[in-house]
Amino acid sequence: MILITGANGQLGHDFQRIFKEKNLDFIATDYKELDITNIDTVREFIKDKNINLIINCAAYNNVDKAEEELEMCYKLNTYAPRDLALVAKEIGADYITYSTDFVFDGSKNTPYTEEDIPKPLSVYSAAKAEGEKLALEAYDKSFVVRTSWVFGIANNNFNSATRFVMKSYDMLKVA
Ligand SMILES: NC(=O)c1ccc[n+]([C@@H]2O[C@H](COP(=O)([O-])OP(=O)(O)OC[C@H]3O[C@@H](n4cnc5c(N)ncnc54)[C@H](OP(=O)(O)O)[C@@H]3O)[C@@H](O)[C@H]2O)c1
Repeated sequence: MILITGANGQLGHDFQRIFKEKNLDFIATDYKELDITNIDTVREFIKDKNINLIINCAAYNNVDKAEEELEMCYKLNTYAPRDLALVAKEIGADYITYSTDFVFDGSKNTPYTEEDIPKPLSVYSAAKAEGEKLALEAYDKSFVVRTSWVFGIANNNFNSATRFVMKSYDMLKVA
């Protein structure tokens, strides 16, 4: 059984679609069903559900607001990914969590590799970098995927964001 957290977001939504197509057994949760910032709730929720893979799609993604909402950002992007790794270890499940290319400062002229040392420049990216580290340290079956963009149809996606920008641009042109 696969557990998806943050399942109403872009990535979680598409995992649900793919798992349905492939007839895979999964449980989809977002913060109303399972708040990943509370490890005891997570432990209680997964009890007796025979979970063998946890995919953490939940995150705090407001890069600009994170500068003020530091505590919330660290809760979701640092400590929750670590706690999910600990829970996965307790039940022997594989564990995947997502991070970002923002863990690097972007000054390198060649492609980044797994060996490159993160140099985060913001609260969001520092929280993500620390979350990666703690998740990997907590469990040897933790896998971290760094992505620069997620292009999905759910939640605040690239399409709805760019549509807003284009609309604002058109209004400026008219003015
Ligand atoms: N979007 C991008 O372009 C991008 C770029 C680089 C890396 N990433 C990373 O890729 C992963 C997936 O991103 P995404 O775009 O699919 O994210 P998303 O659309 O923002 O989805 C995150 C989901 O987590 C939920 N959530 C918030 N707090 C929670 C909590 N306490 N417990 C459980 N769920 C909670 C959110 O609910 P609410 O929406 O109601 O808060 C939302 O449904 C994340 O780790 C993200 O940081 C994304």
